[in-house]
Amino acid sequence: MTEAILLVGGKGTRLRPLTVNTPKPMVPAAGVPFLTHQLARARAAGVEHIVLATSYLAEVFEPYFGDGSAFGLHLEYVTEEEPLGTGGAIRNVASRLSSGPADPVLVFNGDILTGLDIGALVSTHQSSGAAVSLHLTRVPDPRAFGLVPTDPTGRVTAFLEKPQTPEEIVTDQINAGAYVFRRSVIDTIPAGRPVSVERETFPELLRSGAHLQGMVDSTYWLDLGTPQAFVRGSADLVTGRAPSPAVPGRCGDRLVLPTARVAPDAKLTGGTVIGAGAHIGEGARIDGSAVLDGAVVEPGAVISSSLVGAGARVGARTVLSETVIGDGADVGADNELQAGARIWCNARVPAAAIRFTSDQ
Ligand code: GTP
Repeated sequence: MTEAILLVGGKGTRLRPLTVNTPKPMVPAAGVPFLTHQLARARAAGVEHIVLATSYLAEVFEPYFGDGSAFGLHLEYVTEEEPLGTGGAIRNVASRLSSGPADPVLVFNGDILTGLDIGALVSTHQSSGAAVSLHLTRVPDPRAFGLVPTDPTGRVTAFLEKPQTPEEIVTDQINAGAYVFRRSVIDTIPAGRPVSVERETFPELLRSGAHLQGMVDSTYWLDLGTPQAFVRGSADLVTGRAPSPAVPGRCGDRLVLPTARVAPDAKLTGGTVIGAGAHIGEGARIDGSAVLDGAVVEPGAVISSSLVGAGARVGARTVLSETVIGDGADVGADNELQAGARIWCNARVPAAAIRFTSDQ
């Protein structure tokens, strides 16, 4: 049975303040820590032993997931004393693997939501005989990504860092953050120092003539690294657009967790999730958003494509669009926040303090 390593130690700087108290893989998406979806998808593909490579806020993973038996998994945790980067993290957990030198080992970034056919990636790896096989996805605008061109057989020909000019955009294939390593290749990554698998390990393997295989799988794929992407990923899980066996309820326009209270005339649409113990007031309208546990949305508030952190309050008639409200923050009534605004954890915004349009 193939083993897997999950990389969950990043600081998640782009997601702050969502990652001030919570590491990115533990931020709830569709009602459960995002990592739950990845574990469930790996389990559904037949993976049983998963090693979590932790670093930032490492202590929160094990109390929640334990030994994994509740999820049908055998989970182990390895914490880096200093962050070792993606490659260093993979090398650092090698001693926990029981695979033989020629066996395939799966590696997943902990912030990718995808419908990837995991079994097909392992089969591609086995049949091509590659040292490492990579899931590649195609994106309309590859400028923010590392490009991975391949030859007609799928063999990787280069790793190109974020392209700056149109001439540099030689392909729309990008590294999608899921790999199969031949076990012996993991043992060649230098130990005890930070290593980036994307910038160091893969280019060096290519230079040394190793066979790296790409598998383009264009099913659902989203990197949840930014607040807007995270909110969209959560909504896509709720509606079922993004596949996961771990959504705690039936997929549809909304997901209301038990113990949440929602006023009968409140309108929840577009994959909105309301967390446990949250309270949604009369006439509130919430679209494509996540309201985390214990948050309060007061009457008449209008929220779209936003995330309201745990225990936060959104005052009456306040309008939020593409906004993140940190845990425990208090946004007074009659505010208007939009376009990437981030309210920090426990911050207080007085009533009628911020608008983007005239009040009259
Ligand atoms: P940003 O700071 O917003 O870029 O996020 P990040 O820290 O998560 O970095 P990035 O998105 O590049 O990381 C890709 C994956 O590797 C994520 O799943 C991270 O959790 C993981 N990761 C990044 N750096 C480390 C590290 O030093 N150690 C471990 N164990 N995992 C890491």
